[in-house]
Amino acid sequence: MRSIDEQGYHFEEWLTPAQIAKDVQQVADQISADYKDKEPLFVIVLNGAFVFAADLIRGLDKDIRCEETFIRVSSYYGMQTTGQLQFIVPLQQVVENRDVIIVEDIVDTGLTIHQLKAHLRGLGASSVRVTTMLFKPNKLEYDDAKPDYIGREVTDEFVIGCGLDFDGFRRNLDAIYKVKE
Ligand code: IMP
Repeated sequence: MRSIDEQGYHFEEWLTPAQIAKDVQQVADQISADYKDKEPLFVIVLNGAFVFAADLIRGLDKDIRCEETFIRVSSYYGMQTTGQLQFIVPLQQVVENRDVIIVEDIVDTGLTIHQLKAHLRGLGASSVRVTTMLFKPNKLEYDDAKPDYIGREVTDEFVIGCGLDFDGFRRNLDAIYKVKE
């Protein structure tokens, strides 16, 4: 089994690239079916979601007309949440009257999604749904942050790879690795 050491922590491979690709395609198929008569705007949450988003949008049905835009928020340092969301790159695109799909790498406490949904609704989006590559259901603290389209559920351990970082590093790993305590 492949493993990675980062800042004194040992991570072991948990999902292979093939498993991740399957999860992502299943999400893309659901979104393609639900949005076939719409023109969704994907709001991709930087930095982590860019890897998932790149595969997701290419997995959509070719007849889906969609747009993508980015937002960058920050609430994490190392492996701990600070609980405070900062808008580092604000939204560049008009979301009024748009069917928005927020794209996240992982939903943990749900704070990021809870605040982003309120932000986008406040800007007049006609609908706001959420897709995430991974979801930690045991850690969810905000009911309205439960994702609509989930690649896979994960237990509470910290994970890296495929866009998920440890202090900014390891997003480039093609598999997803779980920390071993
Ligand atoms: P939330 O606001 O608590 O739901 O946290 C969401 C954000 O925390 C994600 O977009 C990630 O950047 C980060 N995060 C949460 N859990 C992990 C993890 O296991 N690995 C890497 N990043 C994580």
